[in-house]
Amino acid sequence: MSYYYQDPHFFWCESIEELKTRIETSDFVIYDQRLSCDIDCLKSDRSPNLFFAIQGGEFLKDLHQCYPIFNVLMQNPHLPPKPRFIAIGGGSITDTVGFIAAIYKRGCPLVFVPSTWLAAIDAAHGGKNALNYAGLKNMLGTFYFPNEIWFCRALFERLPSEQAEDAWAEALKVALIDSHSLYKKMCQTVQSSSSCQDGHTQKTPCIDLWPLLPDLIEAKYKIVRQDPYDEKKIRYRLNLGHTLGHIIESQRQLSHGRAVGYGLRFAYEFSKFENVLETELWLPGIPSLAELQQLLPQLNNLAHFLKHDKKHTKGIEFVFIQRPGQIVTRSISIDQITSFIKYLSHG
Ligand SMILES: NC(=O)c1ccc[n+]([C@@H]2O[C@H](COP(=O)([O-])OP(=O)(O)OC[C@H]3O[C@@H](n4cnc5c(N)ncnc54)[C@H](O)[C@@H]3O)[C@@H](O)[C@H]2O)c1
Repeated sequence: MSYYYQDPHFFWCESIEELKTRIETSDFVIYDQRLSCDIDCLKSDRSPNLFFAIQGGEFLKDLHQCYPIFNVLMQNPHLPPKPRFIAIGGGSITDTVGFIAAIYKRGCPLVFVPSTWLAAIDAAHGGKNALNYAGLKNMLGTFYFPNEIWFCRALFERLPSEQAEDAWAEALKVALIDSHSLYKKMCQTVQSSSSCQDGHTQKTPCIDLWPLLPDLIEAKYKIVRQDPYDEKKIRYRLNLGHTLGHIIESQRQLSHGRAVGYGLRFAYEFSKFENVLETELWLPGIPSLAELQQLLPQLNNLAHFLKHDKKHTKGIEFVFIQRPGQIVTRSISIDQITSFIKYLSHG
């Protein structure tokens, strides 16, 4: 594949009113119904037919859940033939609407308005969208880049604090991939946050991620720009923590962010075991080794799940940590991973 890639245009604002000025009368706005009170004020003097509420959550990432949206698209006389899609919500909404925008009439203009920290840091960027299939994560998907991404601080105000905890693993992951300076900035932010007075607690820090967003987002784009369509194995680096993270997410009903936290601890321990890691690192807010060891015996059918890992060709492209800013990808066998999991599980 060699399509032209261009960074999306970013727009930053504080209030919903500022968002309102950007929505055009012919846009098709699909939003998480939890945001109804915010979105109601966007609707005034526009056709309510062009706003469609759906329930966000992992169950949305299923082909069947797309049919009601296809029906609206086909039957709504107010919509232009190829409307601009505006997806307002978390990663489940951006993934699902990104997928629909990519395939509807072979592609429509697309805007993401992330409303969770996870979506703002990660899911809205990089053009990957995917639905789940047969209990496996992200099996059906396309590469399709949004033209614009709008960040509205007001949308994050009512987010429960667990949502910041959920995004933390992805935030720390991208910082570790990017540089020692960004990793250090994240650690310092945790140390100076009031919820973490000893500076070494494993409890997920409760910090305001808004000021960190520009650095974290730029860290992801530095990778995406080098390999937008995942052809050169450069984007594999972003999979740090996801090999085991996706299995945990599928099997343990944990949120994506929390599952990636366990996956990141696993990648760290595996990097140490394989002598790739140069020096011990503090991973604030990431499950401890003991917590990982408690969870591992609850996983089953590992070989089957690993075989369906999208980074599986002859072996698994596993992402190891050498040091912050230096990430190494190596092909390893499924046996190697399952043996290490057994080794860790037995303490
Ligand atoms: N495409 C990618 O590159 C990429 C990267 C990372 C994650 N993801 C995907 O993102 C999904 C997880 O993202 P998520 O946690 O944002 O998911 P989500 O959309 O399921 O949102 C989580 C919950 O928060 C609620 N919510 C959303 N915005 C809210 C707000 N402002 N206030 C209160 N509640 C709100 C939702 O209704 C939902 O219940 C997973 O499916 C994962 O696979 C995709």
